[in-house]
Amino acid sequence: ADLNLQEIHDFLVSIAHKAGDMITAAHPTTGAAGSKKNSVDLVTETDRAVETLISTSLREKYPTFSFIGEETYKPGDRITTAPTFIVDPIDGTTNFVHRYSYVSISLGFAVDLIPTIGVVYNPFTQTLYSAIKGQGAFLNQKEKLPLTLPTPLEGLSSCLVAVEWGSDRSGNDFAVKSKTFSKLAATKENGGGMVHGLRSLGSAALNLCGVASGGLDVYWEAGCWAWDVCAGWVILKEAGGIMVDANPGNWEPRIDERRYMAVRGGKGQKEVVEEFWGLVEGAFE
Ligand code: IPD
Repeated sequence: ADLNLQEIHDFLVSIAHKAGDMITAAHPTTGAAGSKKNSVDLVTETDRAVETLISTSLREKYPTFSFIGEETYKPGDRITTAPTFIVDPIDGTTNFVHRYSYVSISLGFAVDLIPTIGVVYNPFTQTLYSAIKGQGAFLNQKEKLPLTLPTPLEGLSSCLVAVEWGSDRSGNDFAVKSKTFSKLAATKENGGGMVHGLRSLGSAALNLCGVASGGLDVYWEAGCWAWDVCAGWVILKEAGGIMVDANPGNWEPRIDERRYMAVRGGKGQKEVVEEFWGLVEGAFE
């Protein structure tokens, strides 16, 4: 079927603004934050209410499309090849609860499992990132991303790298993260990558937009979900970035892979991926 991608994009932008109003008007408290899996995996009433607003609007306008959202996902739900909205009502819930303004609404649309439209909106800074596959990526619908011409990547040691701890704080994957973080930071004499800096800011979608913009050079995470990355992935790719697996070797991760590494546009990105993969201590399960 012929999909009107521009119309879907514009509708997602309007929903992002409505959801944003709801988020900035809310007064979350740590006390009101429910917890899903453990004490650091937070969800608030606002997450649920915003998802309901988004899913209701999308189902009304596009009744034949599938919908996957963080708050209504059930283990075993699979993303199919059908046109599917993949939505995180609040990406950066921990920041939202703490009133740290690195928070976004992540509205993705995939067709044949390929991220096709992405809208990521930070309602606190009123920053909107959006892209349609094949048509470029934009800041606030007017400035093309990346914001400046990408300079060549001069190797991992000159990179600003975003990572996330995630909410699982034990087991193999936590060990792989912890060891890799210190390896990335360590001096070359100690077998490290001596990167310019590591950042752990708390929103996967905004991290991807940061890489798309060119401010961040790399973002590496295991454990996040399709709704955290679908929208940002389109924006990243349209800005010249690439997405590969967080585990070494896989250049073409699937949308539901849960392990990702994003590298900004610019000459030398494959070399940076290989250098990074060489420093990963162990493998994610
Ligand atoms: C989380 C954030 C965080 C990332 C987690 C995500 P949420 O999303 O994006 O940065 O480390 O993997 O689950 O729970 O705030 O929507």
